[in-house]
Amino acid sequence: PELTPINWTRASVEKQGYRHFMLKEIHEQPVIFAETIQRFVDQKDLTLNLKELGLYDLDLEKIKHIRIVGCGTAFLSGLVAQYFLEPLLGIQISVELASEFRYRGPHLDEHTLLISISQSGETADTLACVNHAKQFGCQRLAICNTLHAAIPRASDSFLYMDAGQEIGVASTKAFTSQILCLFIWGIAVANERKKISRSELDTVLREMRSLPLHLESAIAQKGHLDQLASKYYENNNMLYVGRGPNFPIALEGALKLKEISYIHAEGYGAGELKHGPIALIDRHMPIVALAPKDRYYEKTLSNIEEIVAREGQVIGIGDPKDETLRSLCTDFVPCPQMTNPFFQAIINTIPVQFFAYYVACHRGTDVDQPRNLAKSVTVE
Ligand code: M6R
Repeated sequence: PELTPINWTRASVEKQGYRHFMLKEIHEQPVIFAETIQRFVDQKDLTLNLKELGLYDLDLEKIKHIRIVGCGTAFLSGLVAQYFLEPLLGIQISVELASEFRYRGPHLDEHTLLISISQSGETADTLACVNHAKQFGCQRLAICNTLHAAIPRASDSFLYMDAGQEIGVASTKAFTSQILCLFIWGIAVANERKKISRSELDTVLREMRSLPLHLESAIAQKGHLDQLASKYYENNNMLYVGRGPNFPIALEGALKLKEISYIHAEGYGAGELKHGPIALIDRHMPIVALAPKDRYYEKTLSNIEEIVAREGQVIGIGDPKDETLRSLCTDFVPCPQMTNPFFQAIINTIPVQFFAYYVACHRGTDVDQPRNLAKSVTVE
C-alpha cells in the first residue's frame, strides 16, 4: 500500500467556538468561495485552471449529452446546475436521483458524460451509477469533497471541491460549493467548445469575484432569521417556493428544515402551486418564497399574491429595495442581489440554511446529528 498524507487540520474537526458544526460550516462559505475561485481562476489574466477542473482527463469533443446523478442535497445542486449548463453548453442535460437512475434503464453510450456529485464520495447509490455507466463506455467525472474516496477512484476524472471537512449531517457548505464548482466547470467547458465569448467570460468571472462579499452580507442577516425562527418554530408544516434556479433552492430549504427540525416541509416550483399544493394554504401555513428580481420575478410575485389571497403567511426572500414584495409578505428577509441569476440562487441559500438551523435550535433537536440519519450513506 502507498501512504498518502491527508490535508485535514485540527481546526477543521473542531467547532471553533460555534455552538454546532452546522453553524460553523454555514459561516465558512465565504472563505471557501474565495479559495475555490482562486484555485480555479487565475485572477491576473482571468484564465481557468483546466487541470484542477478535471478537463484534461475528459474527451470534451465526444460529449453529446450529460447525465448528472446524486442523492439528497447533492442531487439538488445538480438540479441548480441544469439551469445554467444546458443553455450554456447547448447539449441535453438530465439530473437524476442516483437511487433511481440505473434501475430505469437509461440510454447511455460513449457520447454520454456521467457527472456524479457527492460530498463524501462514498454514497452507495451514486457509486453504483458510476460503475453502471462504465459498462456503457461513458466518460465519468466525479465532483466530491473527499480525496481518495470510492467515487473519484471509480471515475475517469475528478474535480476536488476542497470545501474542508463537513461534519454536520445537514449539508450546507458542500451544497453551495458544488454549485460553484459546477458553474466554473461549465464555463470552462463552454470556453473550450467555443460556446462563450471572451467578453462574456470576463463579465461572469469578474462578478464571481464578489460572491464571497455577497455571502458575507447574507450571513449578516442571521439575527433576523433567528427572530423569524422564534416566530415560526412551533408550526408542523411549511412550504418553500421558487422559480428557475430558485426552485431547487426551495427544495433544499425544505430538505434542511425536515432533516434537522423534523417539521414537515415541501418545496415546489411556484408555478406548480395551483396544480395541487394551493389546497394546503390557509392562515396556518407559512410559506418561504424566494423572489429575487430575475426574469421570473413578475410571475413569482403573482404566485405570492395567490398565497396571500388565501391568507397564507409568506416569508419573502428578496431584494432589500423591493418595497412591493416587502409590503405583500408577512415577513421579509432582505438578501443581497447579484446580476447573475445563478450567483443569486447561491446567495439565497444562506437565509434558508440559517432559518432551518435556528428553527431546529428553538425546537431543541440534535442539530449536528439528527435522528435516523448518517453523514455518509454507504448502503442502498
Ligand atoms: O455524501 P453525499 O453528498 O453523497 O450525500 C448525499 C446525501 O446523503 C446528503 O446530501 C444528505 O441528503 C444530506 N444529509 C442533506 O443535508
